[in-house]
Amino acid sequence: MKAVLFTDKDASICVHDVPLSKHTSDDILIALSYSSINHRDLWISKGQYAKIQYPVIPGSDGSGTIAESSSSQFPIGMNVLINPNINWGNNNAVQSSIYSILGMPSQGTMAEFISIPSNRIHCIPPHLSMEQAAALPLAGLTAFRAVNMKGAIQKGDTVLITGIGGGVALMALQFAIALGAQVYVSSSDPVKIEKAKQLGVIDGVLYNQPNWQHTLMKLCPNGFDCIIDSAGGEHWNTLTHIAKPGGKIVFYGATQGSVPEFILQRVFWKQLTIIGSTMGSDAEFEYMLDFVKHNQIIPIIDSIYSLDNAAAAFKHMESGNQFGKIVLQHS
Ligand SMILES: NC(=O)c1ccc[n+]([C@@H]2O[C@H](COP(=O)([O-])OP(=O)(O)OC[C@H]3O[C@@H](n4cnc5c(N)ncnc54)[C@H](OP(=O)(O)O)[C@@H]3O)[C@@H](O)[C@H]2O)c1
Repeated sequence: MKAVLFTDKDASICVHDVPLSKHTSDDILIALSYSSINHRDLWISKGQYAKIQYPVIPGSDGSGTIAESSSSQFPIGMNVLINPNINWGNNNAVQSSIYSILGMPSQGTMAEFISIPSNRIHCIPPHLSMEQAAALPLAGLTAFRAVNMKGAIQKGDTVLITGIGGGVALMALQFAIALGAQVYVSSSDPVKIEKAKQLGVIDGVLYNQPNWQHTLMKLCPNGFDCIIDSAGGEHWNTLTHIAKPGGKIVFYGATQGSVPEFILQRVFWKQLTIIGSTMGSDAEFEYMLDFVKHNQIIPIIDSIYSLDNAAAAFKHMESGNQFGKIVLQHS
């Protein structure tokens, strides 16, 4: 079958002819229509992810049509999406020690087919197209746990979501607005802030401008009940400054690396709660799908590339110019 294959760190990204991974009678074979790129795939292509294994077919997100199945619940011809969790385990609080994410070490979704256990497969919320369904799983799950579960955001809360161009950040925006929060954003791009305002955000600031925190505090003088971040890096001391006393900072990434000279004293004096979050449990994946269906949320797609043109799609993600998910069309 045709699949994107990462053969080594920084090797050129192209489509190869590869064998399908072992297909057992308990597995379901899906002919994939679309997949989408997450920053994780980019980190893996550059060798910047834990426990790297090459060669690997990347991709954690996919939608497609069942091509082979012995399950009456999932008949041939049904359109489905995939839960990218593998072995989360029974503890909702934390993943098991054998947890992994689809698309390394296991074969991922940037391929013509995937063979996968039926308990990873879900019906597509009826209001979503196949390409929108492929944009949802990983970003939706991560945002749902961060915003709805860990952030426990309530109606009326003031919420800051940093780096709004990101795939997860945009899902977080949509979930926070559905919960009735007053949402503010940061970005490197004024056009992205305008687009976020069209989605219901109150206002935003450019994090690459000096003293952006002062501009933000003029917009939201009492500070933020909850901040959702995936950038990390040196701006973290600013986040603890603009959080309301008693507020929360939930973070699920560190795109800008670790925090130099973190000001611990501000955290205890302001009674802040700092919460790390990764992906979400299988139960949360189902709650997320229900929440998306109930609120008729549609993932924002930045662009669609053909699978053959995956290299250009990855280049686009690396540029940081996207607003929303970058999707690959397989057929
Ligand atoms: N723990 C988990 O389960 C989990 C799950 C998903 C993702 N992640 C991590 O979360 C991060 C984002 O993932 P993604 O897939 O959403 O990536 P993405 O779509 O590539 O988005 C990255 C965004 O980060 C923003 N950014 C970059 N530098 C920033 C800074 N200094 N301050 C604020 N924002 C900044 C940019 O926003 P603008 O374009 O608006 O400037 C950029 O669009 C990655 O590090 C990823 O590995 C973790």
